[in-house]
Amino acid sequence: MLYQAKIIGTGSYLPSKILTNHDLEKMVETSDEWIFTRTGMRERRIAGENEFTSDMGLEAARSALQRAQITPEEVDCILVTTSTPDYQTISTACMIQHGLGAIKASAMDIQAACSGYVYGVCTAKSFIESGMYKNVLVVASEKLSSIVNYKDRTTCVLFGDGASACVVSREKKDGFLIRSMRLGADGAHTSLGMVPAGGCRLPASAATVDKDLHYIQMHGSEIFKHAVRKMESACKECIDLANLTESDVSWLVPHQANMRIIEAMSKRFQIPMERVYLTIHKYGNTSASSVGIALDELICTQSLQPDTNILLTAFGFGLTWGAAILTYQKA
Ligand SMILES: CC(C)(COP(=O)(O)OP(=O)(O)OC[C@H]1O[C@@H](n2cnc3c(N)ncnc32)[C@H](O)[C@@H]1OP(=O)(O)O)[C@@H](O)C(=O)NCCC(=O)NCCS
Repeated sequence: MLYQAKIIGTGSYLPSKILTNHDLEKMVETSDEWIFTRTGMRERRIAGENEFTSDMGLEAARSALQRAQITPEEVDCILVTTSTPDYQTISTACMIQHGLGAIKASAMDIQAACSGYVYGVCTAKSFIESGMYKNVLVVASEKLSSIVNYKDRTTCVLFGDGASACVVSREKKDGFLIRSMRLGADGAHTSLGMVPAGGCRLPASAATVDKDLHYIQMHGSEIFKHAVRKMESACKECIDLANLTESDVSWLVPHQANMRIIEAMSKRFQIPMERVYLTIHKYGNTSASSVGIALDELICTQSLQPDTNILLTAFGFGLTWGAAILTYQKA
């Protein structure tokens, strides 16, 4: 391989407004106790009325570029992963490209639902290793509050807003070598989770709005079973591909969808919960952004030593899933 792909800077952004379980108790028939015991969530962040996916993504992108010590002009490509783009037909990546002034970068969106960050990082790795690009900016950003039905207790307690970003580069700087990766999908299960209206099958109309079809609909317990199985197999394959064993993994950074799913993963890989990085209690499920937010916080709060191995894994609507092994290396 001519070039090696490293994450040389990360960033994240969370809006300031907090929606607690107690706030939700006043909106739907639910309780702090039910939400916490079934999901591990206490609160989540909600974007302001005039704060959009591209705005949050821009904030996360700016801090990732700053940490990577890369100027916007040095970015060759911007990959944005989101289920809540600002507009149809215009990629949110184009909006972020303009916001940053990354005039030399190509820009595109990737739709992989909650697996978005892992899909984005893996795509960036391929661009770097092929020699096509030197610096790829990956941004995951979600304003899920714009597609959540706050009258539906089975979904509204789960989701929050936020963004994460990273710079994947061939530059020889301190960073996280993307050592192995695995992506998967199974389109036979699209009906387990989606927003039914707004696409060309069911364009927006007064009837679709009346029927609440522009909000997330989900079969949570079915998704739960697939999530554990698929993330487990992707993680195993990734560990093998990296020539590591489970005991070499120092940190697990999983998608933050449900504490019980995360605990099941921790057990299956014998990674104690102290080495599983959690943000679920404070941010809920931020879909594509969640793994990147957790990774950014892990890097900022723990003093990681060289050769530390981090296992990322995610699962989402589609269905999609993925995993990657990162190893911290000095330049
Ligand atoms: C959604 C999820 C938390 C539900 O937990 P669960 O243990 O599977 O619960 P169920 O859906 O079986 O519901 C159990 C009961 O709680 C009720 N319930 C659902 N939401 C509730 C809420 N917010 N408050 C109180 N009760 C609730 C249900 O109506 C049901 O009642 P019933 O038994 O009388 O019908 C869980 O399945 C999950 O997290 N799944 C994964 C979802 C996911 O990750 N989605 C995003 C894609 S990554």
